[in-house]
This record gives sequence, structure tokens and C-alpha cells, in this order.
Amino acid sequence: MKKKDFLSIADFSESELIHILDVAQALKKELKEGGNKPILKGKSMALVFQKPSLRTRVSFEMGMHQLGGYAFYLSPDEVGLGKREAVKDVAMVLAGYVDAIMARVFQHQHLIELAEFSGIPVINGLSDYNHPCQAMADALTIIEEFGKLKGINIAFIGDGNNVAVSLMDIATKLGANFSIANPKGYDMPEEAISAAKEFAKLSGSRLVFSNDPYEIVKNAQVIYTDTWISMGQESEAEERKKAFIPYQVNQKLVDAAPKDVIVMHCLPSHRGQEITDEVQDGPHSRVIPQAHNRLHAQKGIMAYLLADL
Ligand code: CP
Ligand code: NVA
Repeated sequence: MKKKDFLSIADFSESELIHILDVAQALKKELKEGGNKPILKGKSMALVFQKPSLRTRVSFEMGMHQLGGYAFYLSPDEVGLGKREAVKDVAMVLAGYVDAIMARVFQHQHLIELAEFSGIPVINGLSDYNHPCQAMADALTIIEEFGKLKGINIAFIGDGNNVAVSLMDIATKLGANFSIANPKGYDMPEEAISAAKEFAKLSGSRLVFSNDPYEIVKNAQVIYTDTWISMGQESEAEERKKAFIPYQVNQKLVDAAPKDVIVMHCLPSHRGQEITDEVQDGPHSRVIPQAHNRLHAQKGIMAYLLADL
């Protein structure tokens, strides 16, 4: 079996992504019906974190447990990836102990090095560039809501950040329409935009890049937002808070969208900044089932990488 990694949605074909989502849905159903079969019995995974986490850590630990395997957490201070020890040394050492690595890093390049030097599957638990596990959970949530992803209009309001990149990737790979409204100077990375344009040509997705949240929510079926200040950007907090004020997802913005719109957020949210309490706790919000889908989506990913399902 050829080693596979899960570093970016962009690395996968439409049929591979649909397959992983199908496996995730099947495992979710199996869990609800009494429990999963131990398809990852004997498999182990190191969870390496350079940044804090609630969802990613707990959903990977529990997901592995439910599939009969073993996953354990390694804190930023313990590993000191690239600080206490060179990334390639961490990779080669862990490869002698475990079957896979999940890592949350600052520099995306560190994931690429972990994958190259470990020779075992590496899963991206968020980098400064993207967040593909989040996008898989987002896709699952949208499919559960609308019965499909193809043709669904997704409007991302806020920063052209890691979460936005992976959401745009999965939308354009699977034929959803993706628009983003961000303040000037907070665009998505050029390389992500040009890749998405290519994916959109194949899938038929429409892409819109705007600075006006009201323009893009007009036809939205999904409004999506994320923090204005990602982990590692704390020193820019004050200028970001100013720049993003017009990009708050509040009731007025939701009211400007079609009435059956759903609101998504990868969490953690900053209530009163990018999203109001009224919206996050209101009838359009799907943020909690979305967070729960991290568990199911990642079980699909682990089954695909480690059980060749
Ligand atoms: N959405 C997400 O990745 O959450 P955590 O940072 O809590 O893992
Ligand atoms: N964009 C956020 C996502 C957190 C899950 C960050 O990188 O901090």
C-alpha cells in the first residue's frame, strides 16, 4: 500500500474526496447504530501541536479510540518542533514508534518535511496556510443540510485565511460556488486563488472575490466566518479588529441573505467580533453540528490513510 498524506484538499481528486466523505458518513451511521468496528486496531498516531486546540485534539483522540487504535497528544513545549529539535529528526524518530502523525504547525513547510522524512502518513491539523480537516467536516455538514455540495452557494465573510483556503479548495473541487468578502489587504494567497480557478474550470464552480459582504450574501445558502486574528497574528490584533468591523456576521447581514441560509464557523469564535451571540446561538447557526462533524470527517480520513478503506 502506497503511503498517503492528508496535507491539502488540493492534492486530492473529486472522486477521492467524495469517497472519504462517504466513508465518514458510513462510520458516523455505524457509530450511532451501536459502535464502530475496530478497523484501526493496532494502529497508533502521534498528535503534535505547536498551537492550542480543543476540537482537533479531542476529535482525533476519540476518533482513533472509536476505531480501535491509539492516539496521544504531544504539547508544543514537549516537542518544540523545529526549535528543540529539527523537524526531520522529529519525523524520523516518531516513525519508529507510531503508524501516523497528525500535526498542527505554524509553517506549512514543516508538514511537508514531516511527511517526507517520516515516510508514514501525515495529517495536517492546521497550518498557517490551510486547514483541510476542517474543510472535510464543513463539506459533511453542508451535505447533511442540503443533500449535496454541488451547486451550493457558500459566502465566506472575513479574513482570507487558512480556513478560507481549504473551504475554497473543497468547494471548487466538488462543484460548490464560493465567494469571499474580505477587507482590502486581507486577500487569500495568490497561489490558492490560481489553483482554485483551475479546479473550478473542471467542476463548474463559480468564484467571486469581493470586498462587500452584503453583495455576496444575497444568494448565499451558507454564510461562513472565522476569527479575524488567527493563532500567531496576536501582534496585529488592534489593526485587524479595526479593519474587520464591517465584516461582522450579525443579524442584519443574515437578514440580507435568503431565509433558509445556514451560518457556519470553524470555532473557536470571538462572540461580539466576527459573529454576534444572536447569530451564533440563533436558528440559522450550525456551528455545533459542524464541530461534531470534525470527529466523523477525520475518521473517514484516518480510515482512508491507515485502513486503505
Ligand atoms: N476548528 C478547530 O480547528 O478548532 P481547534 O483549534 O479547537 O482544534
Ligand atoms: N484561522 C484560525 C482557525 C482556528 C481553528 C486560526 O488559524 O487560528
